Amino acid sequence: FFVNDERKQLTGKTVVVTAGPTREKIDPVRFISNHSTGKMGYALAEEAKKQGAHVVLVTGPVQIAAPGGVELVKVESAEEMFNVVMEWYDKADVVIKTAAVADYRPKISYDHKVKKQAGDATIELVRTKDILFELGQRKKGQVLVGFAAETENLEEYARKKLTKKNADIIVANNVKSAGAGFGTDTNIVTLFKRSGTVTELPIMSKIDVAKRIIEEITSLLKDMGGN
Ligand code: PMT
Repeated sequence: FFVNDERKQLTGKTVVVTAGPTREKIDPVRFISNHSTGKMGYALAEEAKKQGAHVVLVTGPVQIAAPGGVELVKVESAEEMFNVVMEWYDKADVVIKTAAVADYRPKISYDHKVKKQAGDATIELVRTKDILFELGQRKKGQVLVGFAAETENLEEYARKKLTKKNADIIVANNVKSAGAGFGTDTNIVTLFKRSGTVTELPIMSKIDVAKRIIEEITSLLKDMGGN
């Protein structure tokens, strides 16, 4: 059969996608996490692969199968995800931060199972590293795409993230809307671009959302003269 490489938009590019939740360990049997299933991030990895990219999929623990042909790196904690993403950053042309990274981790992570005691308990939490923020600080020509999972003031928070994290695109989803956010096969997103353009998309499958995001990235790379 005939493969037309000319039509692949990301041939020769390295795309790092993060997906899924992180797990922040309390002890060997307990952790803090969230509802991310990896569907949105895995769809992005699949679309980037289809466009000919070398895809590094850095994933927290999820139950779905990875798309064929991608380089899969499994991590658990925000700290591990930070380290892997930073290792790849110099080689990356694009980084897409779909992962739902925990903002806090337990200050103490026990090596033994914590026994229950009389009365209530408190877990002291400390901040994790903000991976997207660090990527924005260390950016040297990479296209940086972040997500914003919000339940209110979507536009205001997305715009703030775009500036504060030095991102090129923020993909905002209201995770309280039916058919959007965690776990669903569909998403409803608005793209906030550095250029100031805002694109509000209707409800679509996560695969179609991924296609749109990859198209935006491709056109940014072209504008930068890299393709
Ligand atoms: O996995 P699914 O079930 O398909 O669900 C998809 C999704 C809802 C997880 C996805 O669409 C999504 O919104 N992902 C981002 C979730 C999130 O953590 O959003 P946030 O607004 O808290 O974080 C903003 C951005 O900063 C994200 O790009 C996040 O990856 C990044 N971040 C956050 C915290 C941190 N310590 N480091 C980060 O890099």
